[in-house]
Amino acid sequence: MSNILSLFHTGSGSTKTVATLLETKLKEFHNIEMQRVHQDFDYKKLPDYDFILIGFPTYFWTPSKFITEFVEKMPVYEHPVKAFVYTTCGIYNGNSLRILVKKLFNKNIIAVAHETIKGPASDYILFPVSASLMFEYENGLSEKIDRSARKINEQISNDKISYNVPAFKLYVPLNNLLKWPGKKWFYYYRDRLHNLEDRCTNCNLCVNNCRNNCWSEGENHPYYKSENCEFCLGCVHNCPEKAVIFSEGMTNKTRFNKKFYSKFLKK
Ligand SMILES: Cc1cc2nc3c(=O)[nH]c(=O)nc-3n(C[C@H](O)[C@H](O)[C@H](O)COP(=O)(O)O)c2cc1C
Ligand code: SF4
Ligand code: SF4
Repeated sequence: MSNILSLFHTGSGSTKTVATLLETKLKEFHNIEMQRVHQDFDYKKLPDYDFILIGFPTYFWTPSKFITEFVEKMPVYEHPVKAFVYTTCGIYNGNSLRILVKKLFNKNIIAVAHETIKGPASDYILFPVSASLMFEYENGLSEKIDRSARKINEQISNDKISYNVPAFKLYVPLNNLLKWPGKKWFYYYRDRLHNLEDRCTNCNLCVNNCRNNCWSEGENHPYYKSENCEFCLGCVHNCPEKAVIFSEGMTNKTRFNKKFYSKFLKK
């Protein structure tokens, strides 16, 4: 039985759902500890584990800002640490997995296996029209989770450490042409994030959940500052009152919250 640390960053909850599915498979054979990454993480403890999992969402074909900064703050570990690295995305991840795998390598965290999981597109809420595939995980998710768990088990019992970097996708630089207007469009909405005072119950979930400390407590309702917001949409999808909005048009749209993701844990 090995000791595994499962680290993940998540906005709406899709990456957390995948981390939970992996945990369910792996805990049959190992001790596994799940941790959503946070600013006060104790980096010194990481080499105490036999194996680590690192999961993160892809935003704008790159690893989310929070996971990138989390890895950049890591020390360079003296001995190599074996890892399974995965990303979740709505359509495709560009080179985001490759980018994070390389950043981890610079810290002596060696990706011995990796995976991309297509799931609900948390940014659907920005678009005027939506398709049913934006609300689902890819077909064969459960087989992919089984396969990933098998790969992890194989790598844990393998004495050799072989670095497995995802191939560079040549067409991705073309996306950079779209990235700039896309980001500008998303950030137009980001700067308009606010809460509806008549819906907000001042429960402070948005304050406690935001990894970028964008919400601060207030007497009647929390206040938002866009400065460090990575627009992960965590607060939008998880406000129990649908009180966090950035446009009138999305007020009553479906939220990807705990209840929404729980059905994928039952399948
Ligand atoms: C700001 C933003 C940008 C996104 N960019 C991409 C993208 O470039 N490619 C993609 O396939 N999905 C993209 N998505 C969808 C997310 O990658 C996908 O829904 C992910 O699984 C969300 O995981 P989370 O709920 O753990 O944050 C984006 C979502 C957001 C909020
Ligand atoms: S999570 Fe929603 S209801 Fe709770 S404090 Fe934030 S905006 Fe208000
Ligand atoms: S304020 Fe920004 S960074 Fe924080 S949870 Fe909301 S969208 Fe994510």
